[in-house]
Amino acid sequence: MAELQTIVNEIHQALLPRLGEGKVADYIPQLARVDPKKFGIAVIDIHGRVYKAGDCDEPFSIQSVSKVFTLTLALGKHGETTWNRVGREPSGSAFNSIVQLEHENGKPRNPFINAGAIAISDLVMSGHTPREAIGEIVRFVQYLADDETIAIDPDVARSETATGYRNFALANFMKSFGKLDHAVDHVLGVYFHQCALAMSCTQLARAALFLANNGKNPLTGHTVVSSQRARRINALMLTCGHYDGSGDFAYHVGLPGKSGVGGGIMAVAPGRASVAVWSPGLNQVGNSLLGSVALEMLAARTGWSIF
Ligand code: DON
Repeated sequence: MAELQTIVNEIHQALLPRLGEGKVADYIPQLARVDPKKFGIAVIDIHGRVYKAGDCDEPFSIQSVSKVFTLTLALGKHGETTWNRVGREPSGSAFNSIVQLEHENGKPRNPFINAGAIAISDLVMSGHTPREAIGEIVRFVQYLADDETIAIDPDVARSETATGYRNFALANFMKSFGKLDHAVDHVLGVYFHQCALAMSCTQLARAALFLANNGKNPLTGHTVVSSQRARRINALMLTCGHYDGSGDFAYHVGLPGKSGVGGGIMAVAPGRASVAVWSPGLNQVGNSLLGSVALEMLAARTGWSIF
């Protein structure tokens, strides 16, 4: 294998002529303002060595990537009872689909589709006001990345609160089944703010490193979760992290990963490294188009596929 920084540089160079491909998410108005030609990649190995290129230190809206962090928090608070509220099966439907909820008594298929992440936000809230829960999520992510500068972009949170009709529908529907403990607008307040976290590829890769290293962050020495839990979170990312594109991502890339409509993807090569990529243009199922291509190239060049 060539030197990792060489591989990262080559991926960046190979994708430069393609920047702007895909479609930037515009259903959240604030996201539609992002420059579609941004591209960043950061790889951090479990020894702490960093390999990066492009706009890797520019914060962007992590959106659904945040669902990995809130799932980790919810599991820490509620353990296995978390699974009374959400399932662990791929949905095969769009990330914001409502159809399965009706036949499945308001229990979302998994914690990464919007309905499932809203149910997880409700669990993270337990015993907290929305403001406290949001503060806890931000502090948790800062702790994971060992970076206190990480913050929420209030304009993105406001933009989504103003236009999140589909998420209001999902949350109200779940509430009608008695599946949310807290008020719908409070739960969504937490959910919209977690999605509005702004992080760079470097920060995201740092925050994911515990998942590549059996639950322990090698940079700080903190044990975040047990090795069993890290494996299980990775299993969920592999099967559900890219919605109805999860099978395709597993086929082409072969790494647990989580995408967001801001164009970010966080991926984990267990025992080796964590990776984050950012390119705002999305494919048809709402995952970063060039981000997926970059990860496919990285997996091919490194042999890091888990298969
Ligand atoms: O709720 C939403 O629609 C967004 N805040 C997050 C969706 C998302 O990132 C889907 N990912 N590809």
